[in-house]
Amino acid sequence: MAIIKVHDKYFEPYLSEETIQHKVKELAELINKDYEGRRPLFIAILNGSFMFAADLFKHLSLDVEISFIKLASYKGTRSTGHVITSIGLDTDITGRDIIIVEDIIDTGKTLHNFLPQLINQQPASIKIAILLHKPSATVYPVDIQYCCFSIPDKFVVGYGLDYDGHGRNLKEIYQLKERGQF
Ligand code: IMP
Ligand code: MG
Repeated sequence: MAIIKVHDKYFEPYLSEETIQHKVKELAELINKDYEGRRPLFIAILNGSFMFAADLFKHLSLDVEISFIKLASYKGTRSTGHVITSIGLDTDITGRDIIIVEDIIDTGKTLHNFLPQLINQQPASIKIAILLHKPSATVYPVDIQYCCFSIPDKFVVGYGLDYDGHGRNLKEIYQLKERGQF
């Protein structure tokens, strides 16, 4: 793996395809054990989670369902800040065991704002499975049950994650190169 240019910035190799695949499989096996005999419904948040969700799903041996949703945020009419709405959640989640699949938790804001909406619909349980977590970037704490990698607060791209729309197709994860490092 070498330094690459994505759009207008340089990125260096951070997590290899092999490292990612190994961890994703491990995580799936853990979920297989934890949910034995149950029928969890995975809710994967687009766009970033599509690759992680696909690979995770291949290793699940349970009777599983998945629904892909998009989150759109807009300013409420009152000055209460952002309201998050979900597009595409067409499955009834009442009484279901939900596992949210997300690419990365950075500040935690997205999930922090979205979770109450799911809880409102009274699922039996909600757990969160993420590929990446930036613990030092936390502003809104979120309980995470399944996480592949904890990473430093540096911008990353690849394996579904984008930089300005670019780089989602990379099989590996690359980290933004600091200025003056090369
Ligand atoms: P949060 O709401 O701050 O937790 O951020 C969540 C969203 O920000 C993620 O779903 C990503 O789409 C995006 N994001 C955060 N950090 C990165 C990164 O390092 N690379 C690419 N996207 C990121
Ligand atoms: Mg995302």
